[in-house]
Amino acid sequence: MKILIFTNKTRAIARAAEMIAERIEANPRSVLGLATGGTMLDLYSALVELVRKRGLSFAQVSSFNLDEYVGLPPEHPASYHSYMRECLFSKVDIPPENTHLPHGDADDLYEEAAMYERLIVQSGGIDLQLLGIGQNGHIGFNEPSSSLASRTRVKTLTASTQAANAPYFERPDQMPKLALTMGVGTILDSRECLLVAIGSAKASAVAAMVEGPVTAACPASVLQFHQKATIILDQDAASDLKLRDYYQFVHPEECVEP
Ligand code: PGA
Repeated sequence: MKILIFTNKTRAIARAAEMIAERIEANPRSVLGLATGGTMLDLYSALVELVRKRGLSFAQVSSFNLDEYVGLPPEHPASYHSYMRECLFSKVDIPPENTHLPHGDADDLYEEAAMYERLIVQSGGIDLQLLGIGQNGHIGFNEPSSSLASRTRVKTLTASTQAANAPYFERPDQMPKLALTMGVGTILDSRECLLVAIGSAKASAVAAMVEGPVTAACPASVLQFHQKATIILDQDAASDLKLRDYYQFVHPEECVEP
């Protein structure tokens, strides 16, 4: 795992956006695995700015999002379909037909999940998978106890995940209890992972992911088995890491004061 610790959130987000832009420049036909959530809001706005500055094109890029709420149609304002349209897809030149999210309102969620897996394989597989991390160590909506070999499927959201995401809904009781999510095994199949965590609320999950045992109790810890995983953190998210000095010694240039 490559652990990059930045003095502040702005620098951490800027580096993550830069990494995505570099991958698209190197391979304009990149298949991106995309994530949602508060951290990604900042990341997508930094990426859109970078794309404009550099004249970078998403015309040949394709994308697969990690997850969608069960029961929400793509037009629902709190769906991840809407989130992605508003934060990224409407702001870059990615063809809509190249973008994929699981359909949480599908009649047959099992078939939808199997089809999503097939589509990823048909696209040639994910080149770069973006990830956030939940306070409980989830990646995608793979909550603790998720099989580390799991594929796209329906998961029940924990109470803490429901509480964290309820503010995105008009009323807390509208928050779905289920989601359709890529599995941990699906994520592991990607050629490269980039996980971004910001803020002290993520510190203990980050420490469990990087320095704890590989365990379904912290699904993000499976990244210890990934051949190419980069973890981008601000100082607060890195604050519980025991070997923090070592990570900063390995990549000192990442942690310079402005
Ligand atoms: P957040 O969510 O960026 O809103 O903190 C991350 C996650 O739960 O994966």
